[in-house]
Amino acid sequence: MKTTHKMFMGLIAILMMYAASVNADNNSATNVSNVIQQSNEQSVQIVTACDGKKKVIVEGYKEGEPMPEQKAREVAKLLTALMGYCEEEITAKIPETEIAIQLSINGDPFISVTAIEELPLVLVHGGKPHTEREKRIWAAELNRMIDTGYKIFHDPTLGTNGISCDMCHPNASNTHPETYPKFQTQTKKAALLRDMINWCIENPQEGKKLSDDDPRMKALEAYIISERTGVILEPGKH
Ligand code: HEC
Repeated sequence: MKTTHKMFMGLIAILMMYAASVNADNNSATNVSNVIQQSNEQSVQIVTACDGKKKVIVEGYKEGEPMPEQKAREVAKLLTALMGYCEEEITAKIPETEIAIQLSINGDPFISVTAIEELPLVLVHGGKPHTEREKRIWAAELNRMIDTGYKIFHDPTLGTNGISCDMCHPNASNTHPETYPKFQTQTKKAALLRDMINWCIENPQEGKKLSDDDPRMKALEAYIISERTGVILEPGKH
């Protein structure tokens, strides 16, 4: 019994030494995943930019806790500045007490910076020029959406009485998408283009209105707006 006890204590000692050495390794290279892991235990909030490559870790605020306006503005400003470095993966940390910001670029250890503009990186505001291939794909996708809208606009099956949109609005005439949002007497409130599209589906066409995120509604809007290329936007105009 006694020898088993000794062996057990010995094993614990070895495990503790191992744990200490692993900890020491971690401390010497403070990489991003480490900090995020540590951060999860403290009170922090992680805000990710829309390109998914930039993160700001804000210390002192829990996930889901609204930050005070001044802090929120600071985070938004930092994210906007970081977005200028298009290609890089950047994690920034706003410490609760220090003034300098900590930055980790492409997984490297954190460095302290006071002005992001001085980073040894290429600023690429707005990104690289688009390639011909990208432009062809985007145009094809857009045309597909507009063509779908054109077909629905000329198809009576949105309604129940055989009438289609084009019979009253040839080439989307008199739809005035550039004047939305605006107050509509029919709906008795400020309406978006989709509200008037639904009004026409329900009234002259006696059909069932579409939900806002229905792909047919999106396609109809795309077609109607595409017919007004170059027209000046004048929300509220009657
Ligand atoms: C029977 C004829 C008729 C049909 C069919 C019809 N509309 Fe209309 N549409 C009207 C009238 C009338 C108005 C009201 C004009 C107004 O008072 O501003 C209108 C208004 C609109 C407006 C707002 C125009 C503006 O100046 O603000 C849009 C957008 C619109 N229709 C889209 C459509 C769509 C999309 C369809 C097919 C789903 C459709 N309409 C079918 C007659 C029609």
